[in-house]
Amino acid sequence: MTAQAAIYACSHRRGNSDHAAELLRQGVEKAGGKAEVIRLRKHEVLHCLACGYCDSNKDGRLADRCVLGARDEAAKLFAPLFAAPVVFFASPIYFYHVPSRLKTWMDRGQQFWQAAMDKEPWVSGLPRRKSYSVFVAGRPQGERLFEGALLSLKYFLLNFNIRPEQTLQYRGIDEFKDLEGHENYCKEIRRMGYDAWQDATEPLG
Ligand SMILES: Cc1cc2nc3c(=O)[nH]c(=O)nc-3n(C[C@H](O)[C@H](O)[C@H](O)COP(=O)(O)O)c2cc1C
Repeated sequence: MTAQAAIYACSHRRGNSDHAAELLRQGVEKAGGKAEVIRLRKHEVLHCLACGYCDSNKDGRLADRCVLGARDEAAKLFAPLFAAPVVFFASPIYFYHVPSRLKTWMDRGQQFWQAAMDKEPWVSGLPRRKSYSVFVAGRPQGERLFEGALLSLKYFLLNFNIRPEQTLQYRGIDEFKDLEGHENYCKEIRRMGYDAWQDATEPLG
């Protein structure tokens, strides 16, 4: 397992989620770790075709179980979910859910759900790890604003034996630099990165 955290920045623009990802990276590094920030918008991912190929192709692995495997960068984006000791997501809310780029990539995770169902050890044998997320939303209200995003992320990550540990949710963050104006939020995010890295790497016992 590489000793590098994976931080997925999931916005379609350079804004609050990118800033949150950077704060998470700072937190991990302050705790003595290393982190890779992956900006989803920089990677082309094709839509799941719902073709059933991943169900029939039992011998497939990371880059070839999906019929689209070699045609885009989905596999490259999945690789850290197999190797990272801890995983972070920083994302905006779009229409009460995750942005379409993130959802498109999540749907491509169906191949791992199939592999886990088939009890293939390269997926079902992955070590248990934790995930941490930061969500920003423009609206100041909305009781159920984050529910859809949290549920999708939870069930997507379960394919990799990654369980949600902590999430930070910020309302009323809308303009590019709104998050930067909230020093208390920024501190919380940095702290979460720090604590998560410590938790992921602390010796057992
Ligand atoms: C397509 C789209 C849909 C959005 N839908 C919502 C929404 O349902 N609820 C909400 O509170 N904010 C919504 N927003 C606002 C964003 O969540 C907000 O601007 C956020 O700060 C963007 O994060 P970013 O700077 O990381 O891109 C939406 C923005 C866009 C572009």
